[in-house]
Amino acid sequence: MRADDPFLDRYAHGTKAMTASEIRALFAVASRPEIASLAGGMPYTAGLPFDVIGDVVADVLEREGPAALQYGGGHGDPRLRDALPELMAFEGIHASGEDVVITQGSQQALDILGRMFCDPGDVIVAEGPTYVGALSAFSQYQVEVRHVPMDADGLDPEILEQTLEQLKQEGRRAKFLYTVPNFHNPAGVTLAEERRDQVLELARRHRVLVLEDNPYGMLGFEGDPPAALRARDADNVVYLGTLSKVFCPGLRVGWALMPPALTERLVIVKEAADLSSSNLTQAIAYRYFAHYPWKETLKSLREVYRIRRDAVLEALDEAFIPEMGCTWTHPKGGFYVWLQLPEQLDARAMLAKAISARVAYVPGGAFYADGQGTSSLRLCYSFPPPERLQEGVRRLAGVVREELALARALDGMRAAGAGDALSRDPVRKTAGDGGARPRPQPPLPHDSRAVNPR
Ligand SMILES: Cc1ncc(COP(=O)(O)O)c(C=O)c1O
Repeated sequence: MRADDPFLDRYAHGTKAMTASEIRALFAVASRPEIASLAGGMPYTAGLPFDVIGDVVADVLEREGPAALQYGGGHGDPRLRDALPELMAFEGIHASGEDVVITQGSQQALDILGRMFCDPGDVIVAEGPTYVGALSAFSQYQVEVRHVPMDADGLDPEILEQTLEQLKQEGRRAKFLYTVPNFHNPAGVTLAEERRDQVLELARRHRVLVLEDNPYGMLGFEGDPPAALRARDADNVVYLGTLSKVFCPGLRVGWALMPPALTERLVIVKEAADLSSSNLTQAIAYRYFAHYPWKETLKSLREVYRIRRDAVLEALDEAFIPEMGCTWTHPKGGFYVWLQLPEQLDARAMLAKAISARVAYVPGGAFYADGQGTSSLRLCYSFPPPERLQEGVRRLAGVVREELALARALDGMRAAGAGDALSRDPVRKTAGDGGARPRPQPPLPHDSRAVNPR
């Protein structure tokens, strides 16, 4: 944001505080060729079958050019709407195309659902950490976000219950629970089967709508995740899907499968935003899924991501020795690993040193609305080749080792009475207890196997 912005006094409240997301700001630096970037969550589009996509595009123009280049309906191309339930059936969902509303990626669905449900001051509940794009979409509507922590089995239902009860005591009710149950961005964990019904029961009991955002559900490396939340409750769950991770993010095709009572209202709100999604990209998506072997492409993408996941975990095991006190998640699908540093390190402050060491990541604080997550960070393995990922992890380990050595030496000096002069170092948080030992790790994103880091 420009300090001398001449329009600053005229922006709407909801957008006044908006700044370029941490991730967007990072892209410029992270895309320099010398940087091994584990920052941006970009799908590996070079792995797509360009010959097939070329045929699909030619087919669309030849067979339905004038219609494909025309405006479309706000609800979305009926052929695509009717084809998408076949994809969702892999997650146990039985749905009608009538309740599918096509959106421009699931990001647009997050925005219009925020618009549809949230007034300034409303509360929503989300995992902590949560998807940064959801935080920016909802922040425009000036909501308060209450985070519920996760462990290796995803969202913690007990803490969810406490949070919903607490809100009740305050005389408030969350407008919705926003959740990414599968291969979470950024935490890399998946909501366990036995927790799914618990979460839904709590949501129903407290009359809280559930927004299930599921871009990665079809990218499992070790079998499929449990049946979707939407498969278990069609009346209280909005399911968000997207072709961005299983096909092309550039098409900007996503969808919301709505509880029937909400479908029409979403269409009306969406039409006010954009009249219609692109007819052309919907036609391309429809033809691809209806007439081409998309499951083959998906299979090969999964394999690409599995190999990259393995490369990152192997490098973490080798480079982050147990003495460093770091823990990380072990994703069974998707794009992300969440790394917990010892509590006295601040991942945001450490980033400048990491960039100098030619590695980039996203600091964990970006994924919270309330300042948590300072000593954690997200690693994304979807884009760089395996050797590059491993090099990045080794560079990162070097930075963390140096910071830790410094922090421990300074903590030792502080314990010996050297005091205040040391608290100015930007990378370390000042340990409130002044002790030389790291404080216990917060409960969040750890894999049970990672409590003792491997
Ligand atoms: C959890 C989650 N939701 C939504 C999106 C938005 O995806 P798109 O708008 O491309 O469908 C992303 C993209 O990274 C994501 O990770």
